[in-house]
Amino acid sequence: MALIKPNFTPAFNITRISHIVLTSVDLDASQHFYETGLGLEVTFRDSDSLYLRAIEETSHHSLVFHRTSSTSTSACQSVGYRVQTDEDLQTAYDYFSERGDTVSFEDRPFQGRTLKITDGVGVPLEFCSEMEQSTCRMQNFHHHAGGKLAFFDHIQIATPNVAGAYEWYSDLGFRLSEYTAADGTDEMWGIWLKRKNNTQDVVFSNGAGPQLHHFAFHTAEIANVIHAADVMASLGLAGSMDRAPGRHGIGNAFFIYFRDPDGHRIEIFTSHYNYIDVNHAPKRWDLSDTRRSQLWGFPAPKKWFYEATPFEAVTIDPPTMEASPVTLEDYLAEV
Ligand SMILES: [Fe+2]
Repeated sequence: MALIKPNFTPAFNITRISHIVLTSVDLDASQHFYETGLGLEVTFRDSDSLYLRAIEETSHHSLVFHRTSSTSTSACQSVGYRVQTDEDLQTAYDYFSERGDTVSFEDRPFQGRTLKITDGVGVPLEFCSEMEQSTCRMQNFHHHAGGKLAFFDHIQIATPNVAGAYEWYSDLGFRLSEYTAADGTDEMWGIWLKRKNNTQDVVFSNGAGPQLHHFAFHTAEIANVIHAADVMASLGLAGSMDRAPGRHGIGNAFFIYFRDPDGHRIEIFTSHYNYIDVNHAPKRWDLSDTRRSQLWGFPAPKKWFYEATPFEAVTIDPPTMEASPVTLEDYLAEV
C-alpha cells in the first residue's frame, strides 16, 4: 500500500505509550526478575498485583502484573496510552462511539478515568490522561541498579494485518518513521509508528496475531545494557536472554532481549533518535536487507520470530504473508 499522509490534526491528542498490563503466574518470580534483576522500582505490591516503574518516570507505573492461576497461559491484558487532557478522553469516547466502536470508561487503580477500546487489529487498549505522581529516582543515583532502565518506550505487536494497523493508527495521528516492505513493492511487512518525539511508540510486524512480541525500556547508555546481562547472570538468570546484544538498523537501537518467568519478552535498549519535523520522511528498508534487524550482531533465534505473548481472550489469526527470516539456527548451520 502507498504511504499514508500524516494526520497532524487528529480528533484527540494521544501523547505517548504509557504502560502495559500483563499476567503472571508467580508475582514473586516477576518481582525478582524486574526489581532485583533489571532494576525497576516496585510502586505497589499485594497478593494479586505488582506495579513497577523506571528511573525517570514520575507516574505510578509503566509495567503492571496481575496474578493468574498457575494453569493459565500468561497473557497481555491491556496496552496503555496517555492522552493530553481529560477533555481528550471525552472527545475520544465521542469519536469512537460515532464510529460504532465498543467503548467504555473503566476504573483502574492509580489512574484517572480510563477509556477502554479495542484497536483495528484486535489489541485491547486503554487511554488515560492522569496517573498518580511522585518523585522519580532519576537523581537517586545510589538506587540505580540492574539495567538502570530510564523509561518505558515502545511495544511491538505481531499481526496478519499490518496494513489495517497502519490505517487505524494513522487516523489517530500516529506517524510512520521507518518501515519494511517487500522488495520492489509497497507491500508493508513492518511499520514503526510514533506519537512522542522519537521513532516509535508501537511497531506492527507481519506474523500470527495479534500477539505482543515485546515491550521495551530505554536506558541511557550501552554499558547499562551490558550491565543488565551481567546482573542477570549473577542472579542465575542468564538463560533468560532471548537475543544476544546487537544493533538494529531500524531505529538504531543497541539491544538485548530477555524473556521473563512467564515468557513475556522485554527489550532493553539505547537509543533511538528524534523524529519530529513535519517533513521528516519515513525511512524504507527492503525486506531482503538483513541490516534492518541487525546492523551488526547475530541473527535472532527462531523462537524470537515465532514466540509471543497472546492478548487475553483474543483469537490469534495466522499470518497472511509467509516470511523466511534469517535465523541464528540458519547462521550456525553455515559456519
Ligand atoms: Fe523494540
